[in-house]
Amino acid sequence: MKVKFIISALFLWAVVLMSQAATQHHLVLSTENTSIGITANEGGRSYIQYYGAKIDQGDIRKIFALGSNFTSLSYPTFGIHLGGGAVEALSLQMPDGNMSTDLFLQSVEKKNDAGGECLVLTMIDSVYPVTVKQYFKAYNSSDVISTWTEISNKGKKSILMNKFASAAIPLQRGDNYVCHYHGKWASENYMFETPMPNGQLVLDEKEGLRTAWYNNPSFMITADGKPQEECGEVFGATLLWGGNYKIQMVAENNKFTVVAGINNDNSAYTLEAGETFTTPEFAMTYSTQGKGGVSRAFHRWGRKYALQHGGQVRDILLNSWEGVYFQVNQEKMDQMMQSIASLGGELFVMDDGWFGEKYPRNDGTSSLGDWGVNKGKLPLGVKGLTDAAKKHGIKFGIWIEPEMANTKSELYEKHPDWILQCKNRELTKGRGRTQVVLDLCNPKVQDFVFSITDNLLTENPEIAYIKWDCNAAMMDYGSTYLSADRQSEVDIRYHMGLRNVLKRIREKYPDVVIQCCSSGGGRISYGFLPWFDEFWTSDNTDAYQRLYMQWSASQFYPAIAMASHVSASPNHQTSRVTPIKFRFDVAMTGRLGMEMQPKDMTTEEIEFSKRAIASYKSIREVVQLGDLYRLVSPYDHKSISALMYANDDKSHLAVFAYSLEYTHNQQVPYVRLTGVDENKNYRIKDLTPWNVQKPCFLDNKVVSGRALKYAGLKLKDILNRPFSSVALELVAE
Ligand code: DGJ
Repeated sequence: MKVKFIISALFLWAVVLMSQAATQHHLVLSTENTSIGITANEGGRSYIQYYGAKIDQGDIRKIFALGSNFTSLSYPTFGIHLGGGAVEALSLQMPDGNMSTDLFLQSVEKKNDAGGECLVLTMIDSVYPVTVKQYFKAYNSSDVISTWTEISNKGKKSILMNKFASAAIPLQRGDNYVCHYHGKWASENYMFETPMPNGQLVLDEKEGLRTAWYNNPSFMITADGKPQEECGEVFGATLLWGGNYKIQMVAENNKFTVVAGINNDNSAYTLEAGETFTTPEFAMTYSTQGKGGVSRAFHRWGRKYALQHGGQVRDILLNSWEGVYFQVNQEKMDQMMQSIASLGGELFVMDDGWFGEKYPRNDGTSSLGDWGVNKGKLPLGVKGLTDAAKKHGIKFGIWIEPEMANTKSELYEKHPDWILQCKNRELTKGRGRTQVVLDLCNPKVQDFVFSITDNLLTENPEIAYIKWDCNAAMMDYGSTYLSADRQSEVDIRYHMGLRNVLKRIREKYPDVVIQCCSSGGGRISYGFLPWFDEFWTSDNTDAYQRLYMQWSASQFYPAIAMASHVSASPNHQTSRVTPIKFRFDVAMTGRLGMEMQPKDMTTEEIEFSKRAIASYKSIREVVQLGDLYRLVSPYDHKSISALMYANDDKSHLAVFAYSLEYTHNQQVPYVRLTGVDENKNYRIKDLTPWNVQKPCFLDNKVVSGRALKYAGLKLKDILNRPFSSVALELVAE
């Protein structure tokens, strides 16, 4: 005890001396248009002083002169100097029971990391053998700065981590509004904008697996005033973690801090002697161009750094689910492949229903875990399907749900201990009253899950696409693999295990396209996307409801990743009847696909679909790789909605507008094309006229960017009844 006291006294004395001797380090880390300012004095504490539009090194001192600096601890800890309103990022319980952590800066380093410049603050506790390295990374050619920490136990005994957030970011307190995205099955990602009250607003997930379903881990906060699309200062951020998360926004009158990280509720984590725990990245941007600026910054960064093959346009596909559901067989698959090929599509994906020998997969009650082809349905195996795809000149993809089992499966019969379960309690079962979750905390189970994809892809190297599904919550929070004192780590270790599997798959199969699906849009999150190419936006394919869901998903996630499929009418989820033109015009704003039985379409619909698919190909690069400008929000209830995409030099544009309601003698807003180049002239083309002889009145007109931006389009006569729509291509002359 006495020895410890002396050591700590010596340390503090050294700290005081060092802080007197050291010069003040006010560091600025910048992206193209944003900066973070940090005070990092060796021997002292480190503070975030500024985060916002780009400043230079000289400005940070001026900000001090104005008294507008934050002086907010860069990584606030729990247990010492506690006061009202404080919120910690780190809370540790030391081996002797001490609940406090007190961090001082040991060193500061600037270094180049893959894809960016990093500021690394190394901090140590004044008494206990704990080191925290805090990273701030400015991604090259982007406007995203991310931050995370590495927490190391340098001692000989384990430490209990009660809270271990990734970030604590101060923001200016003003008339702040929070924009967040909330939903459930078939209604994912609805957008909500609410004034930030004094007190706390928490976005979190405890679902375990579908952790973007109820609340998305992405959000925006305005600096002052209501959120605007193309003006105003807006902070936007997201957490790159697929497990449970917690984002706390804590506001007092003059202080506003966002603390974000892994959800620590029921998730204390024991840090072994010598162990280092890395918290997930928290990625953020700051825009002076409203929500649109935040979205474009995330889309550009996402395509470049945070999803697979972000610079490569995607194939147009047909997915079998809504066409045949579980009734998969060789003949139907062959016919669907022929259909999509003849429409101009490039890929066919066989969904659920193809596997299970002892227990054939005919509905949701059995077979997950038994990934052998059902020979009754598919006598020629997967090879028969890849051969058929080749014959039709398209690629082939397949559905799997590898993290799951059914209690009616050979896998469960062999390995009941591989299932997440709570000791001494009956298993909770999900879909089909038999679905259970594999325990990915267990390395053997990780190997098994890896082998599902590995076997499919080694045996059938022609498989070009995988739809990776996940249709359950973490229903039972318990692992037979983890010891009794580690049961609180189930969600964290599950997701570490899943990351390990996905990393192995990506190392071995870098080219395969993988969709992240989870009961629809349960995993629309940068916590998963780094291993995936795209996400399934929702099981709800109703084009009208999709306008709302896709609008919200587009706040953070780029069109290239947003799977958007044309389905049958009446729609299977909502029974809404809409014209096929409307359905295509909506689906064309994302990664276009179809989700229906094409043989049920009328001749006119087939002819229209062929033309629409060909038209999509002409604007696919603009939509998938371009910048999004949202023009009229469906959430504003102005009876219409509109958006546009522009390529880098704004020479090629795609514009979409939709009518949402019956109106008569109501105002229909002019649609101002904010994403044009004012100095260019554009020729307009109607991309999807129902009748090729009668394109809309705008077709073939040449107009100036200024006219399009300042006078805008008057679409009253085109959007004249619900579900009427228009898709335009504009090419600079
Ligand atoms: C849920 C997915 O979201 C659907 O698209 C479909 O793949 C089903 N699972 C299959 O069971």
